[in-house]
Amino acid sequence: MRADSISVGELQELLAAGRPVTILDVRSPSDVDWEIPGAIHADAYADLQSGRLGPLAEFDLPSGPVVTVCAVGRTAAIATDLLRANGVEALTLDGGMHAWSLAWNTAQATISGCEIVQVRRTGKGCLSYIVESESKAVVIDASVDPDVYVRLLRERGWRLVAVADTHIHADHLSRSKLLAHLEGAALWLPAQDRTQYPFQPVADGDRIAFGSTALVAMRTPGHTEESTTYLLDHIAAFTGDTLFLNSVGRPDLIDGTRQELVSRARQLHRSVSGLLHLPEAAEVFPGHDSEPIPFDGRILGTTVGTIRDTLALARLEETAFVEAVLARIPPDPPNHLRIVELNERGEFPGNPSELEAGANRCAVA
Ligand SMILES: [Fe+2]
Repeated sequence: MRADSISVGELQELLAAGRPVTILDVRSPSDVDWEIPGAIHADAYADLQSGRLGPLAEFDLPSGPVVTVCAVGRTAAIATDLLRANGVEALTLDGGMHAWSLAWNTAQATISGCEIVQVRRTGKGCLSYIVESESKAVVIDASVDPDVYVRLLRERGWRLVAVADTHIHADHLSRSKLLAHLEGAALWLPAQDRTQYPFQPVADGDRIAFGSTALVAMRTPGHTEESTTYLLDHIAAFTGDTLFLNSVGRPDLIDGTRQELVSRARQLHRSVSGLLHLPEAAEVFPGHDSEPIPFDGRILGTTVGTIRDTLALARLEETAFVEAVLARIPPDPPNHLRIVELNERGEFPGNPSELEAGANRCAVA
């Protein structure tokens, strides 16, 4: 750690260890679409640009380290210099929120004799999974550096046998191909003709066997045509971007006519209805969450029964569902067309955070 800055990895370790640290976000309020869990905000952007602390001078900052954050680290560095001149132990987050989009944390739970490690891209909300049975593991929707999964697998003494994606992603670059290659594991993708590199195609009802169990594919189109849910013994469903904890997927991320959009929203209705017919106690583990993910070690998931009770959208009849979904579609996620293109080709740029920075917007709440 340099005297006046801190890397994403170093800050991630401090937060994961529960060490006291204050995150001071100095971005202009209009630029804040995603934040570090627990961050406090100071509307001091214009003052800092002019070399003044502005309202920050009045902040009652605690005695522990204060990590200053902005979009890429430049304005935060000004805040750090000014705060340090005032005796505050300030550190600039290197690369700011762009770099933070790669930060991750984990949570683990046991379900039906299988260990499930949720690997969360806290700065983006992407959720991926390592599912283990008898020390054999499958990774679903790899979205952080492949080395992270390799390290988590090694620490637990598990061997990776397969990597699977729920769909062709539009909000992040899939790391699944890289991870499968690195570990010599099979790469499973939903059957479709867009992917331009070799993979094992998954059709409805196909089984990915590992240890003493298997993931069973349930085709759930709507968010995308190929979207697939992976069921673990009907006691857990890895739903990708079809069904979230308090929202459903968006059906519009591939350009098309209004009629095509309506048809995908209808597909989504059928898929969501199918998922809500799973046993009430089945756990739903989605591909995203809509909030920055805390470093609390608590797995994000809920039961089918809870979603049935709490998500009014999912209970609507088809016509009302289609109308409601199409009326609530959020803005497109940044760079989604380029990200889809790279995922179809299986290419991975040197600096993924350039393309991936910003909030995920795969859900309709
Ligand atoms: Fe998606």
